[in-house]
Amino acid sequence: MAQQEQWKSKIGFVLAAAGSAIGLGAIWKFPYVAGTGGGGAFLLLFLAFTLVLGMPLLLGEFMIGRMGQSSPIQTYGKLALNPKWNFIGKIGVFTSFLLLSFYSVVGGWIILYIVKLLSGGLAGLTQDQYGELFGDIISNSYSTIAAQLVFMLVTILVVAKGVQKGIELASKVMMPALLILFLLLVIRSLSLDGAMEGVKFLLVPDFSKLTSESILFALGQAFFTLSLGVSVMLTYASYLPKTQNLPQSAVSIIILNIVIALLAGLAIFPGVFSFGMEPNAGPVLIFSVLPAVFAHMPFGTLFFLAFLLLFLFAAFTSAFSMIEIIVAAVTKNDASKRKKSTWVIGMLIFIVGVPSCLSYGVLADVHIFNKTIFDLMDYTVSNILMPLGALLIAIFVSRKIPKGDLFAELKQGSSVGYTFFSICYFLLKYIVPIAIIVVFLDAAGLSDW
Ligand code: PFF
Repeated sequence: MAQQEQWKSKIGFVLAAAGSAIGLGAIWKFPYVAGTGGGGAFLLLFLAFTLVLGMPLLLGEFMIGRMGQSSPIQTYGKLALNPKWNFIGKIGVFTSFLLLSFYSVVGGWIILYIVKLLSGGLAGLTQDQYGELFGDIISNSYSTIAAQLVFMLVTILVVAKGVQKGIELASKVMMPALLILFLLLVIRSLSLDGAMEGVKFLLVPDFSKLTSESILFALGQAFFTLSLGVSVMLTYASYLPKTQNLPQSAVSIIILNIVIALLAGLAIFPGVFSFGMEPNAGPVLIFSVLPAVFAHMPFGTLFFLAFLLLFLFAAFTSAFSMIEIIVAAVTKNDASKRKKSTWVIGMLIFIVGVPSCLSYGVLADVHIFNKTIFDLMDYTVSNILMPLGALLIAIFVSRKIPKGDLFAELKQGSSVGYTFFSICYFLLKYIVPIAIIVVFLDAAGLSDW
């Protein structure tokens, strides 16, 4: 096997893994699924799932990734001494492929918004017009496909060069900038008339609003925002030296992720209520609310441009991780094959994504299982394949790898105590699988037996 690529610096890994985690999930998806799923109660569930299920899973992927030092598929067979376990990695790679096919569509929307803003098309609109504008933008088949292609081309170009060169440097500057801009945005949103309604909606739980479906969405969202269940975090950890502090890295990523989702919520919902919009507007939510919030701000256009660029950047660092694991799986870390494989895989993903892209335009009337093609892809990936992958990884880590080996791996580079490890291990062995199965059954309507 070829020599594994390695991260250049400790912080480089944390930033790249955080870059994978923070993306459209926290900024675009979280506000709209929280808006549809009942606000505060959804947020609470999301937080609980993130801490109780996400935390041990993230550590689990980190531990076996660094232990295996191999590709996302072969790590499983290598560690279990039996290649039949590679199927967990194969599901992850397939999931990642499908995921990027529609993720790139949304990445394209951001690019189109930037073009629109630069050409002056966002100036002086009313709130309703912002919503209509979004509808117009995403229903234009040619420009959305072109933008999706641009998004994929950039992703391919960066990943073809190799992860560390491409991702590490960029993340170091962009992540802090994103946080600062979000803070400014939240301050502006909170000072809008009627902002408190939005804050209450997000922070005060009303459990009567929860449904089986919204519980499934909260679970899917927790895994989605942490990039779990697809072996992405496993792959990034496979590029690590044994000196990295894994628990500390996991905790930082989780905290950062929660902070960004909260900031996104606090930036959006005050605006939603202040402008008399519906919190359950769906994917359009942030694209129609944020331009209006920025329009009420001094230098709003400039800030909005900065925001869109950082938002795009966050989407890119997540996209890099998705394609990276497919490339790593196909090339088995043989650097000489990286460039060509990245191009072939990237173009295939683009082609598979075209129907999702068109499902807001010419294919808008095509419904499968009552969902548009885009929604069906998203639902299958986020609410079925990712939780399924997470379930399998939890079972694999806690039942195929000896507990002592896991602790020994975790201790390298950290002074973590046995109690913390044991809690995570217990969660991984019992609570994670049970919770995922119960939520699945509940959503399938099978829980009343
Ligand atoms: N965590 C990313 C986001 O929230 O946008 C999405 C994601 C990236 C999911 C990579 C899964 C993955 F493997």
